[in-house]
Amino acid sequence: MEEYRLENSGNNTSTEIFNKTNWPEIKTQVTELIKDCFPQYNFTNEEIENFFLKTYSNDKALVLFLKDKLERKIIGFTATYINGDTADIHMTGIRSDKRNQKLVGELMKNLEEKLKTIGVSYITREAKVNDGYADAIERYYGDRVIYTEDIEGTKGGTEEKRSIKIKL
Ligand SMILES: CC(C)(COP(=O)(O)OP(=O)(O)OC[C@H]1O[C@@H](n2cnc3c(N)ncnc32)[C@H](O)[C@@H]1OP(=O)(O)O)[C@@H](O)C(=O)NCCC(=O)NCCS
Repeated sequence: MEEYRLENSGNNTSTEIFNKTNWPEIKTQVTELIKDCFPQYNFTNEEIENFFLKTYSNDKALVLFLKDKLERKIIGFTATYINGDTADIHMTGIRSDKRNQKLVGELMKNLEEKLKTIGVSYITREAKVNDGYADAIERYYGDRVIYTEDIEGTKGGTEEKRSIKIKL
């Protein structure tokens, strides 16, 4: 995947989005971010590093980072796998103290712009049902949601998940 950096053109001027970067440079802050976003999985530093190195070397994978310009730190990320005309959003996270400010929307908007330029027409994703996340995603995409199916999640036990397909 070629290098990509996009200054936000929308409302939020305090953040910027970028993808490829030098892993050793961002390793510490990304590791902290992942632990903060997914405490329930108890990921080790090594697991986090392996995930990012594997994703970086996969030319079908796209990772976008959201950086707070003032703080000069990464405060969010999303990892996506592209298969033909469809991109599957694998993981998304915003640092806990930066949540509820619609920052995930900044990431998604930029992700979608990028995916469209490389010929992707659909995104798919799974989201937890119990905590209302699947409903929030459906609200956000509205009539662009073209398919949903409630399934039993594979990760982290048997919690109920919804598989959602969205038209870009
Ligand atoms: C889930 C998470 C990324 C949301 O980020 P956020 O910036 O705090 O999002 P907000 O609560 O400000 O959401 C604003 C709106 O965006 C929408 N939205 C939320 N998550 C979305 C997503 N992943 N994609 C698209 N839209 C989303 C919702 O419509 C929400 O509107 P609402 O007010 O109607 O619910 C964040 O809470 C987080 O990192 N949680 C821990 C990690 C996690 O569980 N990740 C998801 C599974 S991989």
